[in-house]
Amino acid sequence: MCGIFGFIPGSNETASDVVDTCIKGLKQLEYRGYDSAGIAGIYKNEMQSCKSVGKIKSLQSAVEFEKLNLDMAIAHTRWATHGGLTNENAHPHFDEKTKLAVVHNGIIENHFELRKKLAAQDIKFYSETDTEVVAKLVSLYYDGDLKAAVQRAAKDIKGSYALALIHQDQPNLIVATARDCPLVLGLDPQTKSIFISSDTNAFLGRSLDVMFVKNEQLACITKHSIILYDAQGNMMDYKLEALGIDLHAITKNGFEHFMLKEIFEQPMTINRTIEGRFSEEFGTAQLGNLAIPTHVFQSAHHILILGCGTSWHAGHIAASMLESLARIPTQAEIASEFRYTNPIVSENTLVIAISQSGETADTLAAVREVQAKGAKVLGICNVKHSTLSRESDSCIYLKAGPEISVCSTKAFTSQLALLSLLTLHLARIRHMEKAQGQEFIRYLKKVPQLIEEVLNQAPKIEKLAKKYAKFEHFFFLGRQYMFPASLEAALKLKEISYLNATGYPAGEMKHGPIALISPDVAVIAMCGNKKTQDKMISNMMEVKSRGGPIMALAPEGNEEIATITEDVIWMPEDICDELACIPYSVAAQLFSYYIAKERNCEIDQPRNLAKSVTVE
Ligand code: F6R
Repeated sequence: MCGIFGFIPGSNETASDVVDTCIKGLKQLEYRGYDSAGIAGIYKNEMQSCKSVGKIKSLQSAVEFEKLNLDMAIAHTRWATHGGLTNENAHPHFDEKTKLAVVHNGIIENHFELRKKLAAQDIKFYSETDTEVVAKLVSLYYDGDLKAAVQRAAKDIKGSYALALIHQDQPNLIVATARDCPLVLGLDPQTKSIFISSDTNAFLGRSLDVMFVKNEQLACITKHSIILYDAQGNMMDYKLEALGIDLHAITKNGFEHFMLKEIFEQPMTINRTIEGRFSEEFGTAQLGNLAIPTHVFQSAHHILILGCGTSWHAGHIAASMLESLARIPTQAEIASEFRYTNPIVSENTLVIAISQSGETADTLAAVREVQAKGAKVLGICNVKHSTLSRESDSCIYLKAGPEISVCSTKAFTSQLALLSLLTLHLARIRHMEKAQGQEFIRYLKKVPQLIEEVLNQAPKIEKLAKKYAKFEHFFFLGRQYMFPASLEAALKLKEISYLNATGYPAGEMKHGPIALISPDVAVIAMCGNKKTQDKMISNMMEVKSRGGPIMALAPEGNEEIATITEDVIWMPEDICDELACIPYSVAAQLFSYYIAKERNCEIDQPRNLAKSVTVE
């Protein structure tokens, strides 16, 4: 979370272009946090800056009002970690003479200790942030050489960072460095302008050559030039690579919100995820040249899936699929918890790390932990060039295109589609019959069409959402695959509508939570598993007997369910239990979207959230 940006113009760019470029770059990074934003730069050898609480548009108004011009600049969009949403806590942060400025993504873990040491030297602090400590520390070490001061400060700092710093006395220089946080540099081959960013999204619409700054590396960026240093301070060679970009993906394309656009993209994105990745003839998956050798897949005794939030939900579903179809013991673990369990990882453990962004700090930390124990990690990622894609032993991309809405939708269904192909692959290299593989592929190929059928019901789902929008409390219930699907459905609702929504295994309700059932609690029953249908119906009856209003998502034509529930969204029926989660999740996404819309919530950028969670 937090996005950093920096810009040194090349030929043909003026001082007002610099501010404009930074605002545009920040807007593309806004999904990483939108609590406040700020910019600082040098103009005619003087430090200038502007900050604003709230989204980038409020910073934009402020820089326009101040008619800010800069010769070069660093900029920031914040997701608050240390300190409230105030102008003082907004980045950039400065040294005491306002000659040095810094923007930061990450967390300085020993900020308290450093602050105490600096304060003992009479250095004053004006914010509650961990970042201000960096500004004051670098300034303490500065004796005319910003690079050397940053290198020295880095030795004192514990924690993670992507930093960009400037100093008024070195007006043509930006120093950028990273540890466990993403940082990318882009060079415009025509104008020679240089861009610094937390991710390549900020470069969309430009044909840049890019490089990723790796752990402990430091870059000195001046007009037309980048010099890279390793952790020991030695100059390094580097290669810039052309960045392929898809501009269409970052427009709303006529939809009111990115979330709705991304929900409606799903027939296409699932197609892109599965296209060319299976063989009907052999009834198996073809996942390309994986850098992990086949024998690792063949000999895996145990699979460990790591992820957070929605990606963990996808992993949870995949774990059941892998056990049931590939017959491999599999556990899906929440990455942030996993690290602290002293995990048992043997050489026969295959680790699958799932992350849309590929930047989730908890997932990356867990990946590093298992790699240190010798396990091979297969990444499942949407964002190309992301940290997970670079650090995993092999990576398979979702190909779902940029997901801009903070609330994940199309990435989740593509994760499920890809994980079902991976399951098929593992099942077929073990014991699954070809005919069974072919049957699975038949169902998978139908998924985009089934999603279309759900999307066609959007007007009906909208009407139901309007009815249910008056509830403050929701239970989403499911069994087997539909349990993690109900966790995901509840997460969607809570994150964009701020309602209290809990996903729960339907069979567990009677062991406690049924005490909460009342006419004021809406129950959404996800009845998509044939194997557990009867039991699910009993669980719905138990809720109904206690006066709980129920809306079901259920297979077309199930009369019994229709008699139990107040409302039903009819779902396609010709789908296997393993894949039913995909269309059911699409219906739940629409339901949450329309409730949030009815309640006038800020759908694409819900409060307190950020798309890339780059702090642990
Ligand atoms: C929910 C959501 C989050 C993410 C989680 C992990 O809609 O988007 O729960 O799934 O922060 O993010 P990635 O997949 O980027 O690792």
